[in-house]
Amino acid sequence: MSLDPSAPGGMVMYRRTLTLSLFYKFYLTVLQKLRLQGLRVEEVRSEYLRATEIYHPETPSSVQVYQAVPEGQSTDDVVGRPIIHLSALKQATGEAVYCDDVPLYENELYLALITSTKAHARILSVDVSAAERFPGVVCCLFANDVPGSNITGMRQDETVFADGQVTCVGHIIGAMVADTQLHAQRAAKAVKIQYEELKPVVTIQEAIIAKSFYEPIRTIQSGDLETGFKQADHVLEGEIHIGGQEHFYLETNVTLAVPRGEDGEMELFISSQSPSDSQSFVANALGVPANRVLVRVKRMGGGFGGKESRTTMLSTVVAVAANKLKRPVRCMLDRDEDMLITGGRHPFYGKYKVGFLQTGKVVALDVAFYSNAGNSMDLSLAIMERALFHMENSYCIPNVRGQGFLCRTNLPSNTAFRGFGGPQGMMVAENWITDVAHSLGRSAEEVRRLNLYSEGESTPYNQILHGLTLDRCWDECLSRSEYEQRRAAANLFNRQNRWTKRGLAIVPTKFGISFTATFLNQAGALVHIYRDGSVLLTHGGTEMGQGLHTKMVQVASRVLGIPCSKIYISETSTNTVANTSPTAASASSDLNGAAVHNACETLLKRLERYKTKDPKGSWEDWVKAAYLDRVNLSANGFYKTPDLGYSFDTNSGRVFNYYSYGVACSEVEIDCLTGAHKNLSTTIVMDVGHSLNPAIDIGQVEGGFMQGLGLFTLEELHYSPQGVLLTRGPGSYKIPAFGDIPTQLTVSLLRDAPNDKAIFASKAVGEPPLFLASSVFYAIKDAIRAARAGSGMTGPFRLDSPASAERIRNACCDQFTKLCPPAEPGTFTPWSVQV
Ligand code: MTE
Ligand code: HPA
Ligand code: MOS
Repeated sequence: MSLDPSAPGGMVMYRRTLTLSLFYKFYLTVLQKLRLQGLRVEEVRSEYLRATEIYHPETPSSVQVYQAVPEGQSTDDVVGRPIIHLSALKQATGEAVYCDDVPLYENELYLALITSTKAHARILSVDVSAAERFPGVVCCLFANDVPGSNITGMRQDETVFADGQVTCVGHIIGAMVADTQLHAQRAAKAVKIQYEELKPVVTIQEAIIAKSFYEPIRTIQSGDLETGFKQADHVLEGEIHIGGQEHFYLETNVTLAVPRGEDGEMELFISSQSPSDSQSFVANALGVPANRVLVRVKRMGGGFGGKESRTTMLSTVVAVAANKLKRPVRCMLDRDEDMLITGGRHPFYGKYKVGFLQTGKVVALDVAFYSNAGNSMDLSLAIMERALFHMENSYCIPNVRGQGFLCRTNLPSNTAFRGFGGPQGMMVAENWITDVAHSLGRSAEEVRRLNLYSEGESTPYNQILHGLTLDRCWDECLSRSEYEQRRAAANLFNRQNRWTKRGLAIVPTKFGISFTATFLNQAGALVHIYRDGSVLLTHGGTEMGQGLHTKMVQVASRVLGIPCSKIYISETSTNTVANTSPTAASASSDLNGAAVHNACETLLKRLERYKTKDPKGSWEDWVKAAYLDRVNLSANGFYKTPDLGYSFDTNSGRVFNYYSYGVACSEVEIDCLTGAHKNLSTTIVMDVGHSLNPAIDIGQVEGGFMQGLGLFTLEELHYSPQGVLLTRGPGSYKIPAFGDIPTQLTVSLLRDAPNDKAIFASKAVGEPPLFLASSVFYAIKDAIRAARAGSGMTGPFRLDSPASAERIRNACCDQFTKLCPPAEPGTFTPWSVQV
């Protein structure tokens, strides 16, 4: 079977092999049927039979295990109880109000973005004459319509509107404002732009060749590499590429900007994790002080890091339009626009040299990370730093050096995404630990366990690990998953089947909690008690589905000693709590929880006299008495995480307040002939301290795990060699669906693991579990190892992420893959390129 190397759809080697493989399955199936009909044909060997069967998903089941609150805890105290997310019912019925549900203003207009179709080009001309004659058009805006500064971005290396040059497809050049969305979009498409094309840099490999990097290059080094490698019995080199990921929040980016008509005031409704950044970016673009700009966030339909910084691209444009026209302006991106414009998780390329003893103990590691940062810095440096802070995952490596390079490319700027570089750093670690096991011919489980950190050991950035629960999570995960029995059963299965294989992997994770930029580790709250006793709670964090508001109400309820029903959170706004950090880094319950605690304590002190005077009275009685006595029933609270402050120059100072730990064990089955796989089971043990709300925390563990499962096994962004994103919707970009949930999924929160570093002994949970999905990736790799053994192949082999059907099939080397060798170098124009 031949296929042109440049065939549309790409995956040429895979498709050629797949054709043969499917024909082989057909052949086996026909043979088997004929035999069952009594014909005297060749017998199908028993270990081939499963290749003739069709996968049927089994009914899934799940188990959730958590510790009940202690016997003595008052029934009024809701902390630690699995209470339902406060807007869950509204969200399920559709009654929850999102940004675009804000009713239309009478004179409101709609905005559509005019974006670049070239990855790297000079703009020669922009012709709006035809577009402006379209029905409903009000006006077009470009760089010279920005009244304040057109310079923007987290690192001031971006523009509100492109200025003469474009550096990615989707780069915002202008905006079209019309009476309706349809009219605005139609007219935007009719704007004619002429470009002088320049050579784009698209992939990490291209950036490395062109030496296209941002400054600085980060390094973390500890111990002595030379001694370490000398000490090693074996030294091994390897590499892995980890693809990017689209956030795919259900609610795309949206902003509604309403000019207030006086003194440059502007009110914005935004779906953003960073109201304060949105405020200052808009003020900067409008040329007004921040006190004229009010940003309000009720809730997001998911953020996942995608709304930490990139929302400002749209918000500033919409604000500029509303300011110019003196009318409310709205824009919500369509899915394809959002995918095209707003960037995603950084693709990473990791290259390593690892030295280890015959026992499997790793003694030296030299690793270089390259991330595809895109056309601006945004948060890429902090993301690379977090990758470096997680480069050893959970393993103690005495001699280590990690370097991080940020590739400047002509892709839309990549940004924060759940885990913030941590998962990419840890993925490279799990890759070399697997290589070590494969090269020694030992089980990966044994090698992982051998290298696991112990209490009191130090990280490469010289932070001593205290209160380590990795070994407890590991042992509980081994026993809950019945690892040994599963392993024995899988080995038997693999001996009995040639074309389907089962694989297992158990993987630990350790996730550092704190913003790595020390100044961000602060939070505020503002609490009002009204005369009727009802409480309006505000804090600096935003709700994106993670249950933060529910947890904050639980905290306030415990401190004030009143039921949750008396406490309400309406929204997050820049005029209630100022200078807030983004809701990110999984730290929002820690930070805002402590600030809420602080504010409520202040109020409680003020109420104390009235309680003592009237001990039998109700909450309402005390509030009323205090009010009549002219007591201030509003208080703000503040918190900053103590004792942080790392320096790259000295490789000292605390980076993290503490760590969240977890271990997962997964089992999969692969179809070696097609590369399809199914997720049979996953068991997770997660240390989230004394959970504030186990229902929400288990939801975060399950959700984070599934999002990671998408990252490592399903989701793949495709670009043309010219840097045009080809996957712009769910039809071509596969996010996890119900059928991808492991048939048996068990999540257990570690018992009796209080954390003295955060509110009410809890721990952060939002990002840490995501990486546990790599257990599915390494279970797949383990199954591929078994398939390769069937062809007589042993030792380390390369498998890039995601473990797509294409990669799984190609890695299961057999007689069919041999018939379809990769195209000759130089003859192949990739339709899908690695970035
Ligand atoms: N859960 C839901 N449902 N939706 C989200 O957008 N974002 C994740 C995580 N869990 C997210 C989520 C990310 S990236 C982070 S950093 C944390 O939630 C942020 O919230 P927290 O600090 O309150 O945990
Ligand atoms: N994590 C998440 N978001 C961030 C961080 C971080 O460490 N720093 C800045 N934004
Ligand atoms: Mo999360 S990536 O820190 O918003």
